[in-house]
Amino acid sequence: MKFFIDTANIEEISEAHAVGILSGVTTNPSLVAKEDVSFHDRLREITSIVSGSVSAEVIATTAPEMIEEGKELAKIAPNITIKVPMTIDGLKAVKAFSDEGIKTNVTLIFSANQALLAARAGATYVSPFLGRLDDIGHNGIELISTISEIFNIHNLDTEIIAASIRHPIHITEAALNGAHIATVPYKVIMQLCNHPLTDQGIEKFLADWNKKND
Ligand code: E4P
Repeated sequence: MKFFIDTANIEEISEAHAVGILSGVTTNPSLVAKEDVSFHDRLREITSIVSGSVSAEVIATTAPEMIEEGKELAKIAPNITIKVPMTIDGLKAVKAFSDEGIKTNVTLIFSANQALLAARAGATYVSPFLGRLDDIGHNGIELISTISEIFNIHNLDTEIIAASIRHPIHITEAALNGAHIATVPYKVIMQLCNHPLTDQGIEKFLADWNKKND
């Protein structure tokens, strides 16, 4: 499973990129709204740092408008992926982008049937939202597992991005259940790296080393 970062914050993206584990970035209107910059300028900055897929979400709600907006976003850099909401208009737009070789990420996926439709429309990625399903008492990981099984049975090459990640256990479970990618908030990426026994171990090794070399 690969890692994307789920943020529009340039410091977070730069730091995660410097670690060397980043394969892409996802943004959404809520994440962009937290930043005090123009969306297009921020996408230019992000794509100058990260060479993998950078998802940019359309705001339009009708297919023709989504297509127009998406085409403008796609001009920003060759690694822009157009993020489209899971609606009938969204599917029409995905089909049009796919016919033109523009990559797409269908977002706000909450059922296996939505994922199957998106894949059949030609989506490059589908983004099932784990955390938001867990929040309402459903099982987000079970959805990843079901989508993965369906895509395998039917040889669909659309990749599954585990989205709405809230904690490290989501990552392990998404990896075990067939997600190709997890898009992870910066805070959770840092949590993945840390373990108190690692910190204690380093402290002890250094203390022993210093004793010997006193
Ligand atoms: C996915 O691409 C979305 O940006 C994101 O994962 C949404 O997560 P949230 O439920 O934490 O807003």
